[in-house]
Amino acid sequence: MSEITQIFTCSPLAPVLHRVKISRGRIPSSVLNHPNKSLSDYMVRIITLSSGKGGTGKTLVTANLGVALAQLGKKTLVLDADVTMANLGLVFGIEERKTNLHEVLSGGGAMKNLVYNGPAGLKIVPCGMSLDGIRRAKLERLKNVVTKLASGVDIMLIDSASGLDHDAITALSVAQEVILVVTPNFTAVAEATKIKVVAERLSVKPVGVVINRATGERTDLSRNEIVAVLDLPVLGIIPEDAEVRRAAALGEPVVTRSPKSPATKAFKELASKILKTH
Ligand SMILES: Nc1ncnc2c1ncn2[C@@H]1O[C@H](COP(=O)(O)OP(=O)(O)O)[C@@H](O)[C@H]1O
Ligand SMILES: [Mg+2]
Repeated sequence: MSEITQIFTCSPLAPVLHRVKISRGRIPSSVLNHPNKSLSDYMVRIITLSSGKGGTGKTLVTANLGVALAQLGKKTLVLDADVTMANLGLVFGIEERKTNLHEVLSGGGAMKNLVYNGPAGLKIVPCGMSLDGIRRAKLERLKNVVTKLASGVDIMLIDSASGLDHDAITALSVAQEVILVVTPNFTAVAEATKIKVVAERLSVKPVGVVINRATGERTDLSRNEIVAVLDLPVLGIIPEDAEVRRAAALGEPVVTRSPKSPATKAFKELASKILKTH
């Protein structure tokens, strides 16, 4: 039985998952047949954070994991590729900066002004938030931008749009690895299976799952249930922590704002774990 068939027939969520259909027609051929897809092409690890469902915490995990990796001494760059609903810049309080990914994807901005400095030497590439920027951005330029930014970087984390629309698939296709960010509930986990299937078809390696916003309540799916459905290792469990929201509202990652918070501890453990999964 193929792995994909197993996901749909053997998992505890099979009654729902069997309705999930991945149609080749939804993936643009330019993405499916992207050239030079080989880990050996890069010195850098390029990891996209994806989810089927919105609001699982991809942006918050990208930002805080990025800082935690930088604190461990890795040359880390975080890039906001959620071209339509960008908000990584907000988490770092740099949303007003003039040069952003929109500008570069539209051909108007210079690459040299695109990268901003964050905590612990983290490099940050924000995306713009204007409707005009969304309209002008050309997604097919993303691969080229990512390749240029990869030089001199150890780990690049790409914050993706949710789901499987063109921008989300493009963000996935430019990476070598994908981390699925789920909240511990049925819908988020079921939808993550679709991302996993599409990633494998794009030759992007699903390295594991981050369970975010874990409450410890009985209504949460357990770690084992999530592993049984996704058949991937759990890289980290980030608790629901009001400090995460508070810090984000103030334009600062929780890892620097509240170094002793439960979420910060979990982000640091996640960073260490990721460095061991290679
Ligand atoms: N561990 C957490 N604890 C508390 N709130 C969180 C946590 N992770 C994310 N959030 C909140 O959940 C919401 C969605 O997070 P976000 O990172 O924007 O999700 P996504 O990028 O997947 O759409 C935000 O309001 C964020 O502050
Ligand atoms: Mg987001």
